[in-house]
Amino acid sequence: MADDSIDPIQYRRVLGHFPTGVTVVTGLAEDGGPVGLTIGSFTSVSLDPPLVGFLPMVNSDRWPGMRSAGVFCVNVLASDQGELCWRFAKTGLEDQFAGVEWHPSNATASPILEGAIAWIDCSIEGVVDAGDHHFVIGRVLQLEHVASESEPNALLFFRGKLGEFTQHE
Ligand SMILES: Cc1cc2nc3c(=O)[nH]c(=O)nc-3n(C[C@H](O)[C@H](O)[C@H](O)COP(=O)(O)O)c2cc1C
Repeated sequence: MADDSIDPIQYRRVLGHFPTGVTVVTGLAEDGGPVGLTIGSFTSVSLDPPLVGFLPMVNSDRWPGMRSAGVFCVNVLASDQGELCWRFAKTGLEDQFAGVEWHPSNATASPILEGAIAWIDCSIEGVVDAGDHHFVIGRVLQLEHVASESEPNALLFFRGKLGEFTQHE
């Protein structure tokens, strides 16, 4: 084990070759207002029981407030929602939700973003420390996707850039 020898720039560059979807994980801030974070580390975890997970940084400003509320909703972004990806990745925006259309979910009141291709509404089941990130495990309470007839396409992140899925013929 020689993790001291791993150069952080090389780590980022190599891991950037693994493409991810892009989600905005939303929740409720301490004042009860809406809050959201752009997250690429979202993953399904377990079907029985239904669990999902994601990894926020330990020094995230917004995560502690969301954690206190005990709930979150994962919004899977569509290929035309790149602006939301960058907006929710910014720290210190006065009003992150200005001009963003959303409604509260039934189960947790977390924001569901208009135009997201799928959402997964969760309660926090557990949080495991994982280096400079937390691994947050959520119990799925409710979930939905947009109708497939509307042919939604997912936003993808690869080598630091946004793009979209193209199916092989
Ligand atoms: C495509 C993309 C994916 C991201 N994925 C993650 C992630 O999985 N975990 C994380 O902590 N930050 C991730 N970030 C960065 C956070 O969105 C950003 O650091 C965070 O919003 C800072 O918020 P804060 O105000 O809570 O500190 C990602 C950013 C982008 C653009």
